[in-house]
Amino acid sequence: MRTWMWVLLTGACTGLGVTAATVVWPIGNNIEKITQVGDVDRGAYLARASGCIACHTNTEAGGAPLAGGAPLKTDFGTFYPPNLTTDPEFGMGSWTVEQFAKAVRQGISPSGDPYYPTFTYSFYANFTNQDIADLWAAFQTVPAVNESALPHDTAFPFDQRWGLKLWRAAFLAPTNVEPVPSKSDAWNRGKLLVRGAAHCAACHTPRNIAGARISSKRFAGNALLPVGGKAPSILPDDLEAEGWSVDDLAYALRSGVTPSGDVFGGSMAEVVQFGTRFLFDDDLKAMATYIMDSDI
Ligand code: HEC
Ligand code: HEC
Repeated sequence: MRTWMWVLLTGACTGLGVTAATVVWPIGNNIEKITQVGDVDRGAYLARASGCIACHTNTEAGGAPLAGGAPLKTDFGTFYPPNLTTDPEFGMGSWTVEQFAKAVRQGISPSGDPYYPTFTYSFYANFTNQDIADLWAAFQTVPAVNESALPHDTAFPFDQRWGLKLWRAAFLAPTNVEPVPSKSDAWNRGKLLVRGAAHCAACHTPRNIAGARISSKRFAGNALLPVGGKAPSILPDDLEAEGWSVDDLAYALRSGVTPSGDVFGGSMAEVVQFGTRFLFDDDLKAMATYIMDSDI
């Protein structure tokens, strides 16, 4: 599983020149000034839809909101989602909105380092300046927690952040949320949410040995979720064969109850509990409309 990354990264390490070049290699694009006035409610809604609160809060351990999440086990190590409260020392209290935008849309820290893709930033690349301003306004309302999240537990070479620059160059691709004019407004809204904020593909698309999603197999299911368990295919034909309709899907994303009367288990139960059950009816219907017709 890890062999390929070892070859790539240790190969790069042995060539010191290459290493040095990679370490100083600048990444990302400049962020224009964000002048939009944020809307706290809209930001809180988007934070729910995007899983920010779910990942960055350790609910099970009774952690304060956004003060740091439960450990995420992956093939490359265990990651601890950091403190995103207004604390200036351990949270984002001393950040600017532009630094926040760069972290969320581009996966790059205020000091210019790349973030691990365990942070689902690639799905947020299309957030508008208004989306960012809204999220930022909502995050400003979060009480400061003066506590650091645990450091990630990764072994060499995965503890070398600069190596992620190679990963980005090889695998980082923008999410396609372009509207399709021949489709309904609901379908297009659904596409924006499902392919973007709600990041359904993070679990429902299989990954290659370097942990990157295989885009030609989008939504075809992932039999080896790092968190354990298996995410089934959510391709329209497979869902139809299992008896799902648009209404069933919208209902399941609200309630966690499937057409056969079962309830979602594993990480899908959490997707509903911390995310989709808070969404407006119209948005759930839109997401279901897109998923049941996501072939293009
Ligand atoms: C699947 C879990 C997950 C989700 C969903 C998620 N994050 Fe994160 N986030 C992480 C992890 C893990 C890191 C640490 C990445 C690293 O250290 O390279 C992180 C890092 C960050 C950072 C950098 C913090 C710092 O101290 O440098 C910011 C800002 C952030 N996330 C904001 C968000 C926002 C906003 C959302 C929702 C739009 C979000 N995250 C959704 C897991 C997640
Ligand atoms: C954190 C991982 C994760 C994310 C993100 C995720 N899912 Fe799932 N999903 C799962 C798992 C695991 C299952 C299997 C649940 C079970 O076994 O009960 C599942 C099951 C499903 C099923 C049932 C399919 C069937 O044939 O029974 C549907 C439909 C579904 N997910 C839709 C979605 C949608 C829509 C999104 C985006 C809003 C999404 N999922 C995001 C992990 C995830």
